[in-house]
Amino acid sequence: TEDDQGKHFELVVQEGRKTFLPNQESATFGFNGDYLGPTVRVSKGDYVHFNISNQLKEVTTVHWHGMHVPPEMDGTPHQTIQPGESWQAHYPIMNEASTMWYHPHTHGRTATQAYNGLAGFFLIDDENSSSLELPNEYGVDDIPLAIQDRIFDNDGALLYEMTSGAFYGKNILVNGTYNPVIDLPARKVRLRLLNGSNARIYYFGFSDDRSFHQIATDGGLLESPVETKRVRLSPGERAEIVVDLSDAKEVLLKSYPESDLLTITGSVWGGVGNSHFDILKIRPQATDKLSPPLPNKLNTIERWSTADVAKTRIMNLGGGVSAPSSSNGRTIPSLTHDHHTDMSSPELRGRGVPINGSLMKMDYANEVVKLGDIEIWEVTNLTGQSHPFHIHDVQFLLLDRDGKAAELGESGWKDTVLVDVGETVRVIMKFTDYASDSVPYMYHCHIMEHEDLGMMGQFLVI
Ligand code: C2O
Ligand code: CU
Ligand code: CU
Repeated sequence: TEDDQGKHFELVVQEGRKTFLPNQESATFGFNGDYLGPTVRVSKGDYVHFNISNQLKEVTTVHWHGMHVPPEMDGTPHQTIQPGESWQAHYPIMNEASTMWYHPHTHGRTATQAYNGLAGFFLIDDENSSSLELPNEYGVDDIPLAIQDRIFDNDGALLYEMTSGAFYGKNILVNGTYNPVIDLPARKVRLRLLNGSNARIYYFGFSDDRSFHQIATDGGLLESPVETKRVRLSPGERAEIVVDLSDAKEVLLKSYPESDLLTITGSVWGGVGNSHFDILKIRPQATDKLSPPLPNKLNTIERWSTADVAKTRIMNLGGGVSAPSSSNGRTIPSLTHDHHTDMSSPELRGRGVPINGSLMKMDYANEVVKLGDIEIWEVTNLTGQSHPFHIHDVQFLLLDRDGKAAELGESGWKDTVLVDVGETVRVIMKFTDYASDSVPYMYHCHIMEHEDLGMMGQFLVI
């Protein structure tokens, strides 16, 4: 056919029914199935085409979280798919080897659509990752794990209710499974952790407190493996870890309580309750194959010099709402009449936490960035709760938290960073390849309810 160049994928956004609790069914949403979606696996340099059809009774979008794609392919509230319609997204894979994901970005409906099951993994390989001796047999010793907290009603159906402005569940699903157990070979195993929860922050470790190695952040491999006992992930963040199961002892992946973190780093993530959960039971199985030692060098990360920074932008989370400040932004006239894409409920609209005094406005670009520029964004949290700050289009590097250099586990490519109460986090990034004076990208809090309530801004790259 005319375009058999590249890789083609079909995604059908559909309603489903799934049994989470024994003998009890729940209504769900899924991609090509009843809950979550297929793992998309591609290589850097591939050209991909997605045909996405929306069989829901409501409008949706599909966003490629973490990926560097043109703004009109980004699957934001400006690329809606009406019920019964379809959308074609196509772009080259420019990101390096990493664990990305896809999910809806429907303005005002992201939280409920993702909650009902709309999310999937998007894994990228590249020459470097393929040359490394890392566990890489998908489903055997290389396992993606989407961790989501949920509540079930008395009939075992998914129940969504907001408490304190966001959703916090009591039961954990891993890849859509309640009370999950996995058999894994008794050797080194790679777990690709995705915090796919709406609002909850996890502090991952193992029940016997064993050490493991973190090998990747959101957007790529770390320079070297980082030995640790804990990894903290806020909504939207990913980490790849390698754990050695050669002692063949059954062990639980779990989330440790916030209070543990408090004693270690002195930081608190406010407002979320206690994230103390068993996540996944792991049963090691005898295997003949031995794992080689982890490579010492995983990746090369070229760090920009702050001397080359064209602009530093201030992002204040919280504080009062004021009229859109001016000096940086501009209206986008072509989007002024785009009302049908705003699905936020009138009761909740405008009740969100502002960024720089503004709530999300569909036809307003809060920031205008110059293509090719290196920028620092300085994000300060003025609220009483931690917020995961996410930026579309780019992968950034964390410069510092309150002036303290990023810890090793956060020293690689990232697209989402948790900003704790009172903290200032500085990230550096470069805007390349894609520009548009009419289609913006977004930055926002990845607590999905906060995003839906308007804790989001837009930027144009021109
Ligand atoms: Cu994971 Cu703007 O989204
Ligand atoms: Cu995103
Ligand atoms: Cu938030």
